[in-house]
Amino acid sequence: MSLVLPLPLYREKQALLGRVALGALCLVLSTGCSKAYPFHGEQRPNPYLTSDTRHSIQLSSPAGKEHRAVMLQHLESIQVIVNALVEEDYELAKGLTESHLGFFMHRQAMAQQQPENFPPAYHDLAMAHHAAAEELARIIPTKDLKQILPQFNNVMKACVACHLEFKVKSGS
Ligand code: HEC
Repeated sequence: MSLVLPLPLYREKQALLGRVALGALCLVLSTGCSKAYPFHGEQRPNPYLTSDTRHSIQLSSPAGKEHRAVMLQHLESIQVIVNALVEEDYELAKGLTESHLGFFMHRQAMAQQQPENFPPAYHDLAMAHHAAAEELARIIPTKDLKQILPQFNNVMKACVACHLEFKVKSGS
């Protein structure tokens, strides 16, 4: 898939910039935590370990694998976008955000899936996530981290929001 092509190009640079990028990602994530959970010191029940109330989405084995591949690519996309921001390549960061996390990606991902397997609430969370990414892409050209970071935070919040609501059960 042509969308994946830019990623390997980054691998070499990543070796050098990996630590910086990881640091930046941690910063982004910790900013997200303190914004989303103001009482950071308090123990929040972990929904993945206790009283799992997430809704299950039943997928066939290939569809489950495809869903997982898209998710792993989402995480990698976040990393290369942070990497581009670290390098102050705002044009690239914007392009990657649009093509990897925006509505374009939604159409790509859905083309590989059977939409009827996903409940409307899942679809709404997916659209909210893509909308947040489009907004991030719109704000990146300001080159102003004070504007970019809160919008990046909104994208990450949209990832987390869906993970708290849904899990996948797929045939083996
Ligand atoms: C609309 C819902 C939704 C959104 C938005 C979403 N995810 Fe997911 N993601 C899921 C579901 C469902 C799973 C499967 C969780 C399970 O079964 O335990 C998952 C799993 C994952 C996994 C684990 C993959 C594996 O190998 O098992 C990663 C990593 C991930 N998502 C990253 C992300 C990132 C990063 C974002 C945001 C850029 C994101 N996701 C946005 C629904 C979503």
